[in-house]
Amino acid sequence: MKLSRRKFLTYVLGSTAGFLGASILFPMLRYMIDPLFKVNEEELYVDTGLDVTKITDIPIHVEFTVKRKDGWYKPQKGELMSAWVLKSGGTILALSPICKHLGCTVNWNSNPKYKGQFFCPCHFGRYTKEGINVPGTPPNKPLDRYKTKVIDGKLFIGPIIRI
Ligand code: FES
Repeated sequence: MKLSRRKFLTYVLGSTAGFLGASILFPMLRYMIDPLFKVNEEELYVDTGLDVTKITDIPIHVEFTVKRKDGWYKPQKGELMSAWVLKSGGTILALSPICKHLGCTVNWNSNPKYKGQFFCPCHFGRYTKEGINVPGTPPNKPLDRYKTKVIDGKLFIGPIIRI
């Protein structure tokens, strides 16, 4: 079959226009149907099983499992996470244990020299009980916090609030 020059140009121009049109239309369509793929925030809260009456002004280490997909990676049993939970002025705080300097794990009261503080062993970062970075130590931001909810007397931990 012989292709005329006119037909060839029609195909080339048609497919180029189709490609350009699709590259404009696809993001618009994606934007319009995006709310359908949004996860309801209520579903993001995880039951820690912790009885809220056990939460005091002394931080306790709480572990919980989050089911989520990270790109193509979706762990079958979920991802084990943790938080330091305490009551401060009647409010429940759930602090991330990830140091805001370079991401090591902070521990409560782990350095006898700095009683009553969170301590990061990597570069001696310190935080107050409420997770505020101590001036003059490497971290320059407070610890991140998780959203929390109390349902039927149990602590539920939700999405992280990055500070
Ligand atoms: S990672 Fe915590 S002080 Fe550096």
